[in-house]
Amino acid sequence: MDMDKLVSLCKRRGFIFQSSEIYGGLNGFWDYGPLGVELKRNVKEAWWREMVTGHDDVSVPAGAPEAYEMVGLDCSIIMHPQVWKCSGHYDLFVDKMVDCRTEGCKGRFRVDHIQTSPCPLKPSKHPGEFDKCQLTAPRDFNLMFKTIIGALGSEEDAAYLRPETAQGMFVNFKNVLDSSRVKVPFGIAQMGKSFRNEITPRNFTFRSREFEQMEMEFFCHPSQSQQWYSYWRDRRMKWYTDLGLSSNRLQLREHASDELSHYSCGTSDIEYAFPFLGPGEYGELEGVAHRGDFDLRSHMEGKLDPKTRPLELEKGPDGKPRYKGSGKDLTYFDDMKKERYTPHVIEPAAGADRATLAFLCEAYHEDQAPDEKGEMQTRVVLKLHPRLAPLKAAVFPLVKKDGMPELAQQIYRALKQQMNVYYDEKGAIGRRYRRQDEAGTPFCITVDGQSLQDKTVTVRDRDSLEQSRIKVDDVVDDIRRRIG
Ligand code: GAP
Repeated sequence: MDMDKLVSLCKRRGFIFQSSEIYGGLNGFWDYGPLGVELKRNVKEAWWREMVTGHDDVSVPAGAPEAYEMVGLDCSIIMHPQVWKCSGHYDLFVDKMVDCRTEGCKGRFRVDHIQTSPCPLKPSKHPGEFDKCQLTAPRDFNLMFKTIIGALGSEEDAAYLRPETAQGMFVNFKNVLDSSRVKVPFGIAQMGKSFRNEITPRNFTFRSREFEQMEMEFFCHPSQSQQWYSYWRDRRMKWYTDLGLSSNRLQLREHASDELSHYSCGTSDIEYAFPFLGPGEYGELEGVAHRGDFDLRSHMEGKLDPKTRPLELEKGPDGKPRYKGSGKDLTYFDDMKKERYTPHVIEPAAGADRATLAFLCEAYHEDQAPDEKGEMQTRVVLKLHPRLAPLKAAVFPLVKKDGMPELAQQIYRALKQQMNVYYDEKGAIGRRYRRQDEAGTPFCITVDGQSLQDKTVTVRDRDSLEQSRIKVDDVVDDIRRRIG
């Protein structure tokens, strides 16, 4: 699939626009248009249902060691700066960056990107062999966006936009335990914006500076953590295939030990073969990490061994400097087994924008379909899963007369109470079908001459192009059943 075609469809049909486009855009920031906002909401809604509202707290799901509970949370984007010191982000959330001194390039990019391609910013400025001698020595660049709190704020009032939603769940662990009667094992889920000052945002929305995450922290007994890790890894993989990503473009990849994040004692990535990547290359959709007790322990005891900054350090019991922790007890007491311990955490961390982009890439198809004169034409169609499609159905009167618009509007209003649907009476019927194909609308309902006599309508299936005739009174139930 040609990525340029998808990007142009996204703009033309109102899925995704460049942020602040009338001022030339802002690199790494994107806006979702009328269709895109619905698609992304549906992706997030499917995740929230899977993780929180649709979760059965009393049965043991297939593959799980036991039954567990799930709750949700919505935390602030700016948190106490000490959160990021104890989480490790203040010192360790860095990318190594280099500058290219070549005249006409002067680009800045990540060291790990230079391993795979020559200067990825302006390759045309580097004819022939790319000369790595032109690069500056690698420097650390912290990815957190900094801001200052308050009108009189100075450097001491510096705070950070969260680079992940995860920390909100750890620092509220005790609040959730005390307020909701959950018992370990249980999970806390959160969706929301995160910010990373990426050195080289690229590949459409794949690497943005502002994006949304869908993260879940699952707290369990240390002795069961490996089982829970396997369970969540497999379950999360299934979520993507159930919603339409084909298994031959998806892969589960276990990280090598030198690739693990500073907190992780085991991570698998769920990856997708995005069309903008080279043959055999995959991009990360979600990381499923075994974080051990790193986070709860750091927020309790402080962060040991800070790398560079001497600020706000205290001496730990071993005499070594460390960031001061909260001093709060974040252990868990199992009152049945009379056992106190620090839970281990399994974290499936997904990106809402990356998932949305993968669903769009997978959905994009060009095929041949007959137009109203019966001639074969190329048709662009987004074969989105009906649960993700921005519009579930469109309702058309065949012509704008003879009472057809009135009946079509009656059907539209009945459907609209239950789902997002579209009414269109303008232009040739074939063109109206094509517009809905491009928007990914799975079903088109047409009121024609026969409808007025026998109160039936046709339902056209976006993918098979089959048309069936159903009773007007059955339309709402029929479409609901087809969406599943
Ligand atoms: N709490 C763990 C964590 O944040 P991560 O792998 O850095 O882990 C999780 O991020 C997910 O967030 C990624 O798998 C990806 O889907 C999404 N994500 C991360 N950085 C992103 C970016 N710059 N643009 C879009 N999505 C991003």
